[in-house]
Parts: sequence; structure tokens; C-alpha cells
Amino acid sequence: MSGVSGRPTNSNTWQVTRTDKRPTENRTFGSRHVCLRRGVRWDVALGVALAGKNWLTLIKLERYNRGNMDSKPSLESVREFWETEACGTHFVPNCADKKDFYAKFREYRYRTEWHIPLLVPFAEGKAKKVLEIGIGNGADGALWAMNGAFYTGVDLTDAALEATRNHFEVLGLQGTFVKGNAEQLDFPDASFDIVYSHGVLMCTPNMQSALDEIHRVLKPNGRIIVMLYHKHSFNYYARIMTIMRLRVFTYVLLRANRWRTDREAATSGPLVGLRGNESRELWQIHYRNFLKEGWSYLKAKNFVHHCTDGPECPLASAYSKSEARKFFANFHSVEMKVAHFPIRRYCQWFPFVLEKILAPKIGWYLFIFASK
Ligand SMILES: C[S@@+](CC[C@H](N)C(=O)[O-])C[C@H]1O[C@@H](n2cnc3c(N)ncnc32)[C@H](O)[C@@H]1O
Repeated sequence: MSGVSGRPTNSNTWQVTRTDKRPTENRTFGSRHVCLRRGVRWDVALGVALAGKNWLTLIKLERYNRGNMDSKPSLESVREFWETEACGTHFVPNCADKKDFYAKFREYRYRTEWHIPLLVPFAEGKAKKVLEIGIGNGADGALWAMNGAFYTGVDLTDAALEATRNHFEVLGLQGTFVKGNAEQLDFPDASFDIVYSHGVLMCTPNMQSALDEIHRVLKPNGRIIVMLYHKHSFNYYARIMTIMRLRVFTYVLLRANRWRTDREAATSGPLVGLRGNESRELWQIHYRNFLKEGWSYLKAKNFVHHCTDGPECPLASAYSKSEARKFFANFHSVEMKVAHFPIRRYCQWFPFVLEKILAPKIGWYLFIFASK
């Protein structure tokens, strides 16, 4: 949030630092007279009007509009989050052994993300040098290797490197696994024919640096295939920005009398490591984030990060096609395809044929294909 930054002090108050001098204005809600800084969101104001019992509630709401989420999360916070568990592990809660785990992992992934083998040209990797950035549990990496690619996987975390190494081992595949950062790749110029990165670059603090690095390590005419989260999607507008925000907002308001005591516990402690969006604990973690960050947590540009991979995920932006295109200015033949509308995770009765029609229009994944 611009304007003020703050931090909690021991005495249950916020120490506030003003960073600009934005004007204030007065607005009236019913019988209540509230002093708001220009730019304060209307959902907060509406909350004041609907839920405020007395002026004390108003003070609380105003006082909490003091997070400082404008600075980008650090690479270390990104690493710390992804280190809690290799990406997607929570989709396989039960398994007999390693082999069973990876079989179930692939079955789940390509059943729910059935578009991946259709869109990603794994067969083109044959006898080519393929670099994957952000490897998770190694399912796509295994597909590149099965198709005859000379596969190298890079990830920030030991969790993903170990998971992918194990995955290759149980399938008897060859690969090279390197701990590293997409924004500073440790490979010579023009090393790879294909660079693939699925659901990763929107999680790194400087996506443009990562794309510049990919451009550098690609051979002339080399191909890049990237998946980013797609802003103009049902998931972004309906699930995240409307339903989830309203639920968090309601949860926060219902606990308005306890913010002071709850905040003490919320400001410390290790990551819970919760992934996905199904657990009941989810709303408590969003509430804890709110206690740390203030109302700015619910701003669209901040809230989005916490609604796909887990509420503690520090960074996961969503991009429109035109926003994404600007990042690929150094590449040529840029093509985009939209995919992934996993509504049947929540409504099993939803016809698959309709999912197939809607996914390329309002899906959550934006695939970008380009050449150097
Ligand atoms: C959402 S998961 C995607 C994993 C996999 N591609 C998939 O589709 O399941 C993001 C992965 O990117 C890794 N990652 C995030 N930022 C990175 C960076 N700057 N450099 C390398 N890996 C990164 C994380 O550690 C994590 O394994």
C-alpha cells in the first residue's frame, strides 16, 4: 500500500511511517461519518457501514489500513515457500511407495491438466537440449526425457530437485538437475534448443530478468514455452477476486473484536506450508496474513498471490495477454493459448465437453510460445 507503511509494536499498536502526503476526504455512510484517505477501497468502506457497531470499530478498520505490500517479495521468501513441499505433492495424499506416488501424481496431473500433452510439443524435444525452469515434482520433465530430450532441470529448491531426481529414478530416465535461480542462470550463452517453464516465472520477483536469461541461454531460433497465470479468466475474476475475497473479508469482520489479541500470535512463527485451496485452515491463514499486512492484503494486486498455490505463497501474479506480450518483446513468432478450466474439481457434474469449450476462452493458464 502506498502512503503509509507500518509494523506492529509490543504494545499492540502499529508504528506508522508516512511515505507520501495523499489528501484525505470525508464521506458519509448512513449516520456514520468516516474519514478516509482518497484511494481507500470501497469494500472496506462498505464494511464500515455494514459491520461497524460503533466508532471503535471504525477506528479499528481505519487503523488496519496500514500494510506495506508494495515492495516485491524477496527471492528468499519465494524459495522458503516452495521449499516447504515440492509443487503438487498435496494432490496425492496416499501412496504405497515412491513408484506409486509418482504414478498417481502423473495420473492426477494429466487428468486435470489434460491440455498439457496437447499443447506442449514434447516430441520436438527428441535429441534436443531442453532446459526446464521450475521443475516441481518432475512430471513434465519426465515427459521431455521419455521423448528423447537431453534434459536439464533447474529449481530454486532442494525439495523440487529431490522430487524430480526421484521421479526420474523410478522411471529409469536420465537428466541433469541443478539448483539455481531463473534470474541468473548458470549456463553459457546459446546452450539450449528449448526452454520450458510451466507455472514458474510469475512466481519470481523479476520475471523480465528471467526472460532475458532464457533468451541468452537459448540457441538462435531456439524455442521458449512458458505458462503464466491468466488474468482474464473465470478463476481470477469469479473465484479469486469475488468469492475468495468476500470470504476472507467476512472472516476478518467476524473477528473484529479479536484483532488485537490475534495479531500478537500472527506476527511470528514458521510457515504452515498449506497448499491448495481446500483445507478449512485456509481462511485462518488468510486472516493471519491480513493481521500482518492490513487491509492492503485484500487489494487485487496483493491478494492474487495467495489464492492458487497456497495462502502463504508470496508471489504469483496473473497477466493478460497484452501484459504478457510486453515481456516477450525480445522474442519473435510469439503465440498465446489459453487453457485450464478445472471447474469439475468443485462441480463433478459439470460436462467435460463444456469444460473443453470454455477452457481456451476463460481458462487460468496462459501458454506462450516464442522463438529467439
Ligand atoms: C508452481 S511450481 C511449478 C512446478 C512445475 N513446473 C509444475 O508445473 O508443477 C513453481 C516452481 O518454480 C520454482 N521457482 C520459483 N521461482 C524460481 C526461480 N526464480 N528460479 C528457479 N525456480 C523457481 C519453485 O521452487 C517451484 O518448484
